[in-house]
Amino acid sequence: MRPILRSFEAADAAAVLDAFADPEMARQGDVADLEQAAAWICAMTEGGLDRHVFAIDLDGTAVGAVGVTAIDRENRVGWFWYWLHRAHRGCGTASRAAATVSNWALSVGGLERLELGHRVNNPASGVVAEAAGFVREGVERGKFLIAGVRVDVLTYGRLITDPVPLTETFKLRE
Ligand SMILES: CC(C)(COP(=O)(O)OP(=O)(O)OC[C@H]1O[C@@H](n2cnc3c(N)ncnc32)[C@H](O)[C@@H]1OP(=O)(O)O)[C@@H](O)C(=O)NCCC(=O)NCCS
Repeated sequence: MRPILRSFEAADAAAVLDAFADPEMARQGDVADLEQAAAWICAMTEGGLDRHVFAIDLDGTAVGAVGVTAIDRENRVGWFWYWLHRAHRGCGTASRAAATVSNWALSVGGLERLELGHRVNNPASGVVAEAAGFVREGVERGKFLIAGVRVDVLTYGRLITDPVPLTETFKLRE
């Protein structure tokens, strides 16, 4: 089955917990038990106007997330991010889901600029960003302190006027 994008639900807690049992998810939030997974879902779904977070649903299971958070309505700007359960990586799913949600955010979602950043040692995230139509804008030197080492972050933006990526998209259910 092809994945779809949908809202997170309380019933996704076990799937979210499973996805966070992966060291590469360490910077996506603190989810170490079912209670924290439920709290993460609440935080993603109770933001009112300042966030849109979609689950990547594969055959009824939330295997990933694509979000636009920290939305600044005055400037029509939002912070864009994504993650995918380790077991489902490497198939283009994250790229297609990110293209789907960024296209949506810059049309129905009412935003005009999306921003994201990834650690320089996370090149897969940069491939996903470019597949979703983002343009590399710069480097924030030594932005994160990870295990005692300062790590650069590459920054990207996608404007409403940028070309819509050719990347295949999934169905999005609001
Ligand atoms: C980032 C993440 C979503 C990517 O998921 P994914 O399933 O690998 O994504 P996709 O398959 O859609 O695309 C990954 C691309 O990166 C490429 N890639 C993977 N590892 C790479 C590497 N070390 N160097 C260069 N390219 C790489 C793949 O070949 C693929 O490109 P292709 O589609 O042209 O073949 C996933 O690794 C993840 O969830 N990581 C943990 C959370 C995270 O880091 N999120 C991003 C925060 S900014």
